[in-house]
Amino acid sequence: MTTLAIIGGTGLSQLAALNITRREAVNTPYGNPSAEFLIGEIQNKSVIFLARHGNPHAIPPHKINYRANAWALKHLGVQDIIAVAAVGGITAEMVPAALAIPDQIIDYTYSREHTFFDGNDGNVTHIDFSYPYSQKLRAKLITAAATANVKISPIATYGCTQGPRLETSAEIARMERDGCDLVGMTGMPEAVLAKEIGMDYAALAVMANWGAGKTAGEITMAEIEENLHHGMANAATLLQAFIAAY
Ligand code: HPA
Repeated sequence: MTTLAIIGGTGLSQLAALNITRREAVNTPYGNPSAEFLIGEIQNKSVIFLARHGNPHAIPPHKINYRANAWALKHLGVQDIIAVAAVGGITAEMVPAALAIPDQIIDYTYSREHTFFDGNDGNVTHIDFSYPYSQKLRAKLITAAATANVKISPIATYGCTQGPRLETSAEIARMERDGCDLVGMTGMPEAVLAKEIGMDYAALAVMANWGAGKTAGEITMAEIEENLHHGMANAATLLQAFIAAY
C-alpha cells in the first residue's frame, strides 16, 4: 500500500477529516521540518499531514526547510504527495477562489536550498524535470474533481516567486508573457525535491486573489482570507473524493 501525504498551505493548516493516531517529529540531515507530522486515517486510508508554514503558521515561504520536509516524508514511507497551495490568479480562468491542478512550473526563486544533489558527495546529478508534476496524481485529482462536482482548471503553469512580498504589476505582466497562469511562493523547490528523492507529487492550487495589477487598487489580506475560505472548502471536498478513491 502506498502512503499519501498532504502538505497544507496558507488557509489549510489542518485537515478536519483526519483521524489523528500519532504525531511524529522527524530529525533530518537537513535540520527540522516545518512541523510535527500528523499521522492518521481518513476513510480508512492512511494519510500524513504536514503544515508547510508550521503550526502555528509562522514560517515564511523563503524560510521553509523544503529539504527537511521532503526527506522526512520519504523517511516516513510516503510515496504520493498532494501539495495544497494558496496562489494568485493571472490568466482569465484563475478567478478568486477557483482551483487549478498545474501541469508546469516556471521557477523565479533564488537563494533557496533547492536540491539534494548539491555536489557535496562528489557526484554531479541532473534529473529530468520536463514534466514536474506526477501525471498519475494529476489524473486522479482531475477525476476526483469530476466525482465531487468541483470545478477546476486541469492545466496551468505555476510561476513560483521568492516572496514574501507580493509581486509588482510589471512582474505579473512579465509572468503572463512568460506563460504563467498563476503565481505562488512555495511550489519550488518543493516539487523538484520530491522528484529528486523519488516521490510522486502534484499540486492543488487555490486562488486567493488576482495577481498584482489585475484589478484596480492594492491586494488586501482581507480579500485573500475571504477567497481562501471559499476556495479551501472546495479543495477539501475534492480531497475527500480523491482519498475515497485512493
Ligand atoms: N503572489 C504570490 N503568491 C501568492 C499570491 C500572489 O498574488 N497570492 C497568494 N499567494
